[in-house]
Amino acid sequence: LKKEETSSRKKDHIELALEAQISSSQTDDRFYYEPIMSGHPRSHPAPTQFFGKALSYPIWISSMTGGTKEAFKINTNLARACGEFKLGMGLGSCRIILDDDHYLNDFQFRKLVGDQPFFANLGIAQVEKLVWAKQVDKIKKLIDKIDADGLIVHINPVQEWLQPEGDHIEHSPVETLERLLNKFDFPVIAKEVGQGMGPESLKQLFSLPLGAIEFAAHGGTNFAKLELLRSNDMHQNNFNDLAFIGHTAEEMVHFSNQIINDLGKKVSCNQVIISGGIKSFLDGYYLIHKLNSHALYGQASAFLKYAASSYEELAAYTSSQIKGYQLASHFLKVK
Ligand SMILES: Cc1cc2nc3c(=O)[nH]c(=O)nc-3n(C[C@H](O)[C@H](O)[C@H](O)COP(=O)(O)O)c2cc1C
Repeated sequence: LKKEETSSRKKDHIELALEAQISSSQTDDRFYYEPIMSGHPRSHPAPTQFFGKALSYPIWISSMTGGTKEAFKINTNLARACGEFKLGMGLGSCRIILDDDHYLNDFQFRKLVGDQPFFANLGIAQVEKLVWAKQVDKIKKLIDKIDADGLIVHINPVQEWLQPEGDHIEHSPVETLERLLNKFDFPVIAKEVGQGMGPESLKQLFSLPLGAIEFAAHGGTNFAKLELLRSNDMHQNNFNDLAFIGHTAEEMVHFSNQIINDLGKKVSCNQVIISGGIKSFLDGYYLIHKLNSHALYGQASAFLKYAASSYEELAAYTSSQIKGYQLASHFLKVK
């Protein structure tokens, strides 16, 4: 190190030390910090398997958008990051390309994601229509068109109900999922969109031969709130409290552990994407280690913020998540 650099660093330390005070009540008490067992992380950790594919890090880019000009840019950036950093990703709802190829370009990212897990996405209302009309082939065609690995079904009755143009869900989603799984050879992931799910729903999902469950838990992006923001004052005042209904990712980890324990050999779904309100790699690392199932952690809005801006910003954000996760996995033990 040059002498000037060292002396400027020392000067920073003196100037900033009084600002850099933390009180003991702010300690993150989820972890034991063990600084003496390891050197700094190497750049290539062991990959995580998901759907038989290798992810360099247990990080998932949760489903977002499609079908607008802005969406094409966002999805291109997300798919590029997924491929470059060897993660996995879900697309936003692909409903718009079920019957019409006009927007197909917004969803065709197999080349950018390479061999990483890449999933199509439909809402339960749409899947229900197709399943009960015996048109599951249409979903298979969708998967083929974009060369996806499988289908994510988002189950969002509160959002649909609050949306002025929302769909009516006729059958119980669990029944629709069962029928879909009987006729569909690709892996299926079931998720909410930011309210999470309670123990009865989770128990049903863990009993189905799903490829994975994605929590999409409460505590981050909230589609009840979002739909209310799109509506008039009266509607907002009357239904505002619905935005606070749901289950956090941490609560869902507790439910899941209990369910996995109770179901024993009857567990049919062995992979989870812990998502919804995951603020950073520390939340992800903590919850992955708390859950008694193979898991990744996922984020939507956190990636969106950067993907909407530029690839460089998204890459910098993704890289910081990865570095943070690696640091955590070397020096932190979950309590
Ligand atoms: C702009 C935007 C669009 C979304 N669209 C979809 C969608 O089409 N399908 C879906 O399954 N989830 C969708 N989601 C929900 C996310 O996948 C995720 O479950 C939710 O945002 C909670 O994660 P977060 O707190 O990290 O944002 C969307 C989220 C955002 C922010």
